[in-house]
Amino acid sequence: MSMPEFDNPTELNKLWFDERANLHADSDFYRVQDVIDGEIRLKPYEIEEIGDVTGKDVIQLQCHIGLEAVSLARLGANSTTGLDFSASSLERARQIAKMAEVEVNYVWGDVYDSAELAGYNAYDVVYVNGNSLAWLPDLEKWGEVVESLIRPGGKLYLNAFHPISFSIDGETGAVVRDYFDRDITIWDEPGSYVDEDAETTHNQHAVWVRPVSDVVNAIIRSGLIIASFTERPGQEFQQYPHQYRGPDGLWYNNPELGFQHPSTYSVVAHKKPE
Ligand SMILES: C[S@@+](CC[C@H](N)C(=O)[O-])C[C@H]1O[C@@H](n2cnc3c(N)ncnc32)[C@H](O)[C@@H]1O
Repeated sequence: MSMPEFDNPTELNKLWFDERANLHADSDFYRVQDVIDGEIRLKPYEIEEIGDVTGKDVIQLQCHIGLEAVSLARLGANSTTGLDFSASSLERARQIAKMAEVEVNYVWGDVYDSAELAGYNAYDVVYVNGNSLAWLPDLEKWGEVVESLIRPGGKLYLNAFHPISFSIDGETGAVVRDYFDRDITIWDEPGSYVDEDAETTHNQHAVWVRPVSDVVNAIIRSGLIIASFTERPGQEFQQYPHQYRGPDGLWYNNPELGFQHPSTYSVVAHKKPE
């Protein structure tokens, strides 16, 4: 089978998200109405680790439908910008911000062009979350562009899915994937993570799962100074039937299983003040 778009994974991914933006915005997974009604979608530990954003200029890279961007604006940011390359996602993001009566400046474009599009040295906080990095072909270049967005004294806050959770079978603890496999994976399946049965037409998409150290080193090599690195076992969504919900609202492995594994990690990294 020929795959004409295979040479351009970014284009594959853009088409994939463009087709799914409405599916996502209307899904129980994203619970958009709760954010419109006032829910702050950032987790309490994120709010603590980011620190007070009051009066700060904040940008969320790969903001998708903008739920965290709306939340950051509500937390008192001076300005909030959301950047994404999916035009349909931003169309929904703009509607959501309007319904939430919150001001967010949305910028359409590739992460790798974000400083050019949204401003060099223009932000006190760059926020990146979830599985964002898995969609990006080049981590070193990502680190460089993030550093160039941040003004002296500002910071990167990354709260990401932990790659080990893709390597361990959460039912048995068996290793099911080589943790050090950095190769591109092209998936070709209908639906999406919000609804595997949804009917969709553009189904190929490209992802990369890399060891955490690749991300940490990309940040270090960018010149940013890492102030904290934290791994957490709690995950946002129930992935296996045995998991239970902790008092913090996150899902943990049943203690009878005998092990927890990290499902997310967060990094705070600063740019030196001038
Ligand atoms: C899973 S979402 C990221 C987490 C997000 N906060 C959410 O709502 O789930 C991935 C987003 O990254 C965007 N994206 C992927 N590659 C990109 C790129 N190279 N430049 C800009 N946006 C990109 C997609 O359009 C999508 O909105």
